[in-house]
Amino acid sequence: MGMAGLENSNSAPSASAQQSWGSSLGFVLAAAGSAIGLGNLWGLTYRVALGGGMAFLVLYLVAVVLLGFPLLLAELVLGRHTRRSPLLATVAVGGPSWRPLGWLFPLGSALILGYYAVITAWVGRALLAVLQGHVPTDQASADAFFLKLSGGWAEAVAYGLVLALTAAVVATGVQQGIERLSRWSMPALLMLLTGLLIWSASLADAPARYEEVLLHWRWSDWLDPHILRQAFSQAFFSLGLGSGAMLAYASHLGQREPLPQQAAIITALDTAVGLLAVFIVVPLMSTAAVGQHDGTGAVGTLFVAIPLGFASLGSAGPLLMAAFFFLASIAAVTSAVSLLEVPVAVVMDRLGWGRAVTTWSTVAVVALLGLPALLRTDLLMASHDLFGGVVLIGSGLLLSLLMGWVAPQQLREDLSQLPPPLLRVLLLALRWLAPLLLGGVLALSCVEIVQPKISLWL
Ligand code: PFF
Repeated sequence: MGMAGLENSNSAPSASAQQSWGSSLGFVLAAAGSAIGLGNLWGLTYRVALGGGMAFLVLYLVAVVLLGFPLLLAELVLGRHTRRSPLLATVAVGGPSWRPLGWLFPLGSALILGYYAVITAWVGRALLAVLQGHVPTDQASADAFFLKLSGGWAEAVAYGLVLALTAAVVATGVQQGIERLSRWSMPALLMLLTGLLIWSASLADAPARYEEVLLHWRWSDWLDPHILRQAFSQAFFSLGLGSGAMLAYASHLGQREPLPQQAAIITALDTAVGLLAVFIVVPLMSTAAVGQHDGTGAVGTLFVAIPLGFASLGSAGPLLMAAFFFLASIAAVTSAVSLLEVPVAVVMDRLGWGRAVTTWSTVAVVALLGLPALLRTDLLMASHDLFGGVVLIGSGLLLSLLMGWVAPQQLREDLSQLPPPLLRVLLLALRWLAPLLLGGVLALSCVEIVQPKISLWL
């Protein structure tokens, strides 16, 4: 399509963007639902507990403020301004040379959803197991619990069901499906989290555990490139930046929505839930239990160390554990929905297919893409490092260049209500800070993740 056609399209929304959110609140809840997911309940806690402690948390918060918020706002502006799917939005503001970034969004999202659905299936199975009274009581039974969740034909069935449920929500539409789900699930999730926090923080050894893990201070941590990379990657994954999900959601927004406030609320909710989860889980887990499962990476935390922690609580344990896994299921499904929405919006936009047909055919492709992660846990962890880490950071870097250097006019126009000094700070963050920091994190990721894998193959 020529540029003229795309420019005209700014006033005529594309097939994917013809639907719109029922209300501002509905959009904010859906976007928060996309951001709040297993990354908050699982990734953050694991990384805080395993190493870094205070340094990790502070660097994470710095990444959220310096990079997360500006990039989220930039994605929202791009989506709302163009009212196009992530593929065509980049071309609409940057011209055809930005098409590769447009493709990176649906590709990255589909690949992330492939492995994310596997973990979601485990969460669902863990919930079912607890409801049936199967709660591990010691290290050996916790290991067996995880092995059972993550294997066998039942795992494949659960994987298929998770993808089918996700597709059913997306196929029902933006307002009737995604928004309706978020309207009840987000408040429910926040209530459950608060309840669990009150209970967890009142455990006898909670203060000592908080002190041991969260106030853990080592000067060398602050300059540790591994901790730095993890903190920035975590902030990125947690907000779902660089995946095009926020962009896709924003393409259904009206022109009068206050984007800066909405971006601030989404960022604050996502960060708050991550911190709440840390305060819930830290008193429950011993660092030793987390460390023992370093082999299965963060996965071990959620499925081995957390059930063991709940089991140590006696008769209240199973109920609280059920609440925790129920909460994790809600968080995972609302995130999965947003991941699927990205390739669905792109296919609808490109091929002009209807929503239902597009959704079911896209989810079939995603199911195939996730097969390696379904079959092997090490491939799942590698997918997370590669697609949830390197690819997201890479597309975030390109996005900051696009919005900061190529299309700053869009930001100036769409954010005219922002005080000029704030707008200047935002542009500064997108033009200089984000490319520099993300470039550094990308280089570190290549050294830490990609290089060892290549040398393994050679
Ligand atoms: N933010 C989600 C989490 O923390 O689990 C994961 C995610 C959702 C990543 C949506 C990317 C995305 F587009």
